[in-house]
Amino acid sequence: MKILVVGGGGREHAIIKKLKENPKAEKIYALPGNGGIARDAECVNIGAKDIDSIVTFAYENRIDYAVVAPDDPLVLGCVDALEAHGIPCFGPRANAAIIEGSKVFSKNLMKKYGIPTAAYEVFDSVDPALAYLENAPIPAVIKADGLALGKGVIIAQTREEAYDAVRTIMSERKFGASGDRIVIEEFLEGPEVSVLAFTDGNTVVPMVSSMDHKRALDCDKGLNTGGMGTIAPNPFYTRDIARRCRDEIFIPTVKAMNAEGRTFKGCLYFGLMITNDGPKVIEYNCRFGDPETQVVLPLMKSDLLDTMIAVTQGRLAETSVEFYDKCAACVIMASQGYPEHYEKGYEITIPEDEAEHVYVAGAALKDGALVNSGGRVLGVTRTAPTLKEALELAYGSVRRIHFANAYYRKDIGKKALEAGDKE
Ligand code: AMP
Ligand code: GLY
Repeated sequence: MKILVVGGGGREHAIIKKLKENPKAEKIYALPGNGGIARDAECVNIGAKDIDSIVTFAYENRIDYAVVAPDDPLVLGCVDALEAHGIPCFGPRANAAIIEGSKVFSKNLMKKYGIPTAAYEVFDSVDPALAYLENAPIPAVIKADGLALGKGVIIAQTREEAYDAVRTIMSERKFGASGDRIVIEEFLEGPEVSVLAFTDGNTVVPMVSSMDHKRALDCDKGLNTGGMGTIAPNPFYTRDIARRCRDEIFIPTVKAMNAEGRTFKGCLYFGLMITNDGPKVIEYNCRFGDPETQVVLPLMKSDLLDTMIAVTQGRLAETSVEFYDKCAACVIMASQGYPEHYEKGYEITIPEDEAEHVYVAGAALKDGALVNSGGRVLGVTRTAPTLKEALELAYGSVRRIHFANAYYRKDIGKKALEAGDKE
């Protein structure tokens, strides 16, 4: 089979490495891929948002199957466009990807179908939003409606910060049209859990749970990032919580999307908070998480390509999807300064025996050498029977990999280890 993977980050590298385990995956193209993915796939310089060029490439190269991984092309209708040319895909159509593309849509969906989430109000102009905030509980959470590179959420600790957040998003239009509408919601507390689930619209198969570490600095300080590391499974996701999530959140969400005529097929990401009132949805994503994928797929025992095709063909109920009873830890090596200003172009050295543990995100090939080209550069993942061992191995690998301005958090998995100890 000739397979095309749209995207070019660590998540796509993890997907490609896993797809390659299936001998049917004769040839894999990555659009655009990156300098590290080039070891595992043929990279083609077509941007993930350039839907027309993606479709033309897929058609001309007789692609048998396409995996559309990032949010932007999914929301823009990449799957619809590929399917219109007869190319089967993994990923939701645009009318279902809206579950991530519009926070107003997803909040209204949850309200309509009784799926637990933070209480909220929607505003499409500044003055009513400011008037509402005069008496709203603080902290308040202000969210731009549309995609904002994961940065469209502001947690205002004071009323002044909340007013500023509304002005930044709506008047200054920091996130462009994504901020034409906003959601103001209740601040929830509790441990966060990420659950990625395969669904073909009938059956939902949750993958092993994981925990992201979104802040740039140790002890959850500093700015929000795309994610500085992950561990799996997440110790806060107990059997009891998992059962409640399935019954109160996962199955109701898939049914709600069907009832709206927006059947979701692909990987549905549930960003959950385990509050004192039970699990609640913080966000939905219409795709695999990054860097959650870098810990979830290494623990997947079943074949990824076969599972994806079963999703596409609506045969997930007949397919068994299994995970190893092990733990995984991924430490992100970033460029110093991320998520703000950072220098690029430093050569990366990875010992040959570590390459199998590395998912490359922001790196390019320059004169044959791998150099950093993005904020998040590498994801270093190790698996082991316990989380403690997986973390020791991951940090051991990280210390053997070098580039001039490398930065990584030293406390990935710390909270999870402490939680695990309490059980
Ligand atoms: P999101 O981009 O929706 O994932 O939000 C980014 C982060 O903001 C989440 O991972 C949470 O840590 C936090 N967050 C979002 N919504 C809430 C909320 N209602 N209460 C508390 N924290 C939140
Ligand atoms: N790691 C969070 C996300 O993929 O949205």
